[in-house]
Amino acid sequence: MTKDTMIAVIGGSGLYEIDGLEDTKWVDVQTPWGAPSDQILTGRLNGVKMAFLPRHGRGHVHAPTEVPYRANIDALKRLGVTDVFSVSACGSFREEMEPGHFVIVDQFIDRTFAREKSFFGTGCVAHVSVAHPTCDRLSDAAETAARDAGITVHRGGTYLCMEGPQFSSIAESKMYRESWGCDVIGMTNMPEAKLAREAELCYASVAMVTDFDSWHPDHGAVEITDIIATLQGNSTNARNMLRRLPDLLGASREDCPQGCDKALEFAIMTAPEK
Ligand code: ADE
Repeated sequence: MTKDTMIAVIGGSGLYEIDGLEDTKWVDVQTPWGAPSDQILTGRLNGVKMAFLPRHGRGHVHAPTEVPYRANIDALKRLGVTDVFSVSACGSFREEMEPGHFVIVDQFIDRTFAREKSFFGTGCVAHVSVAHPTCDRLSDAAETAARDAGITVHRGGTYLCMEGPQFSSIAESKMYRESWGCDVIGMTNMPEAKLAREAELCYASVAMVTDFDSWHPDHGAVEITDIIATLQGNSTNARNMLRRLPDLLGASREDCPQGCDKALEFAIMTAPEK
């Protein structure tokens, strides 16, 4: 079935706008899960509907644990969003994934423990698959857009999502890297990616490297001042990448070949009410 594309960008630390957006309006959206992180900026870019949600709120007021993940995803769904691009800062576990590079994440290890992780439970039980938690179609678009913008981009990578807000110890950092095979680390992509799947939204994650976490013998502990310095360049790059997405995805779309938009079809366990 063909339907209108509506691209959402959930912007992380350092990313607070989309260049060139027209007919813009900040809208309030209420959800059964409370208010999203902020109002959502809606508009059009090259004829394609877009929405922008600052994950931490304008002014960076929500810590990773406090981000209202369920309200954010629900609010995007209510606005008619079909395709979600998550943009966030991350630390790197790989020598070749340097600060300033982008990683198109395709797997996650979820180490968060203080967040609501599902829309389902009491009264309606569902188990969606997150074996392939990101959408290849959107990841292809993100990769192409990043390359066209001249950004060094790595396709594929495992993202360790930690609770935070503190950064990892050296022992944790080495374990994630050496024993668990993780490539990058951040604090926000979970449960966001799981909730997007439950909401039957296509989801891609663009992780922008800001530091080498704490494992690297030639780099010290993670310092927020270093992260902020790298974030400024990353944010310019992210905006250059994002403005290319509408042309790559087009104003209308078919069903997702991977079935992200039908994730609930065989996932609900609870019998319908008689
Ligand atoms: N965000 C940016 N760098 C990070 C790191 N090293 N650990 C967790 N989250 C991060």
